[in-house]
Amino acid sequence: MLEALRSGWITTGPKAKRFEQEFAAYVGAKHALALAHCTGALHLALWSLGIGQGDEVITTPFTFTATAEVMGYLGARPVFVDVDPGTFNLNPARVEEELESGRHKRVRALLPVHFAGQVCDMDRLLKIVRDYDLKIVEDAAHAVSAARHMEGRGMAQVGTIGDLTCFSFYATKNFTTAEGGMITTADDALADKIAVASLHGMNKDAWKRYDKSGSWYYEIHDMGFKYNLSDVHAAIGLAQLKRAEDFKRRRAEIARRYGEALRSDDALQPPYVEPGVEHAWHLYVMRLRPEKLRIGRNQFVETLRERGVGCSVHCIPLHTMHYYQQMYGYRTGDFPVAEDIYSRCFSLPIYYSMSDEDVDYVIDTVLKIARENRR
Ligand SMILES: Cc1ncc(COP(=O)(O)O)c(C=O)c1O
Repeated sequence: MLEALRSGWITTGPKAKRFEQEFAAYVGAKHALALAHCTGALHLALWSLGIGQGDEVITTPFTFTATAEVMGYLGARPVFVDVDPGTFNLNPARVEEELESGRHKRVRALLPVHFAGQVCDMDRLLKIVRDYDLKIVEDAAHAVSAARHMEGRGMAQVGTIGDLTCFSFYATKNFTTAEGGMITTADDALADKIAVASLHGMNKDAWKRYDKSGSWYYEIHDMGFKYNLSDVHAAIGLAQLKRAEDFKRRRAEIARRYGEALRSDDALQPPYVEPGVEHAWHLYVMRLRPEKLRIGRNQFVETLRERGVGCSVHCIPLHTMHYYQQMYGYRTGDFPVAEDIYSRCFSLPIYYSMSDEDVDYVIDTVLKIARENRR
């Protein structure tokens, strides 16, 4: 970072380029395009596929608003489909039902989210994409370093599976550039289109116009956006990338310890991991079994907070939110699985620098609150 600051070149330049190359190598992707954030990545991904006014994109309601809000930027409509009760991911059987229902004439793409870092059932989603001639954009904001066993392929790294994959390097993510994102793709034409569009639609490498080899001349090739990643941010990414495997190992270790301990009390439901998934453990989302407890999720989380354990709730289903109801006519009750998960889930702390003592304290505190409040 200091190198970038001292070089006098602080915006998009050589470090952003290197970050793209090293990230592509880390994931095993053909192209990686560094961007300002995952929200911009999702927007550009859908735009690059030509999705626009009146088009529909199938996605999950159990996600952060960025996943679906970008559809609104393009005049497209999010078609929410309920999630799987085990993985919290888009349920392929429900996706097929929705496509078969005849309710939609303009579905152009699927936008699954690898929620919490658990990779979706990509074999089934890719089959749907082939059967219905759709595109697939993966929201991998939670899933850097995640992988899944796929038929005929073995382990497939997230970033090498769908048409376009969008990552987030937001401050809370598994590895961060403070703010930042990345798109990976194997498609040369899409990669070119996104590279140009991410910086005002200027011809490729227009950022070089200020260096010795550059020229003042630039051409505007296409519609453009301002979604480039600065070299200062990319420098953080380059340093974080070196530690990505350590981050992943530590998160997996914490998740394993939580899982083993929490299984001892049947009022607690640790997350389910599908066979063949290498989970990124961005979030550790556990559930309560309300029939076994005298207190609900809100009070459980509040009691944890009082005892020094900060928890959050991921996610509030989008279809229950004002904007999605006003704009698209969704109603609370539309997606009962997502609503049931939301009503009884919360996320335990999980991060690389968490000490073993902290992990033990969280486990002891959760178990104690469950015991104190048993029905
Ligand atoms: C599932 C999901 N998608 C997209 C985003 C947006 O990421 P960014 O903040 O990098 O735009 C987030 C951010 O938290 C997210 O959780």
